[in-house]
Amino acid sequence: MSLSRGAFIVFEGLDRTGKTSQTRRLYNRLTEKGIKAKLIHFPERSSAIGQVINAYLTNAQDLPDEVIHLMFSANRWEHINGIRQEMLAGTTFICDRYAYSGAAYSVAKGLHFDWCCSPDRGLIKPDAVIYLKASSDEAIASRGNYGGERYEKLEFQRKVGVVFDQFCEKESSYWHQFDACQSEENLHAEIAAIVDEVLKETPSQSLAKLT
Ligand code: TYD
Repeated sequence: MSLSRGAFIVFEGLDRTGKTSQTRRLYNRLTEKGIKAKLIHFPERSSAIGQVINAYLTNAQDLPDEVIHLMFSANRWEHINGIRQEMLAGTTFICDRYAYSGAAYSVAKGLHFDWCCSPDRGLIKPDAVIYLKASSDEAIASRGNYGGERYEKLEFQRKVGVVFDQFCEKESSYWHQFDACQSEENLHAEIAAIVDEVLKETPSQSLAKLT
């Protein structure tokens, strides 16, 4: 029996690099082409765990770095079986942030890289990571409403970016880097070209796990 699963496309990058608009554009493009797709976002703030994360991010609640790290991971685990099921039935998922954000933000706070990756091991491995990288941090910081949430401080964002860069180098077989400072239209076209290639391959490939 031939497999015809959907793909798992993850978007990563610093805050305000345009992930939300680009994931939406990609979603619209796929659905217009008749491809069954779903747009998801981590943290998923509506569950009980998600509400704790939201309280933390909006500075309404404080938690030790280790605890919030495990909460972000638990938030992915609580949704992963549903995602897997739908993906195997043919839905392509476009996911705004995933385990790489989990590691990058916590490592930037000083937690150990391996410790940070460990709770996410076993989650679905993406077929592609679309990494939106700003050529200038200041360009990002000048975008509207920047600074409203806990992590939106330039120096901290730079540290997070270093970890994303490391992932991109190490996992180069499925990470694709894009210049987040180009026009929204161009960026979308570049991303669409890569995703078209990925979608040709994925139906015949079995799901892998994060290691
Ligand atoms: P998000 O809701 O994606 O915010 P934005 O749309 O502004 O990018 O994510 C909120 C913050 O949570 C963001 O600063 C990244 C951080 N984060 C973690 O620290 N760990 C995680 O596992 C995830 C998914 C996000």
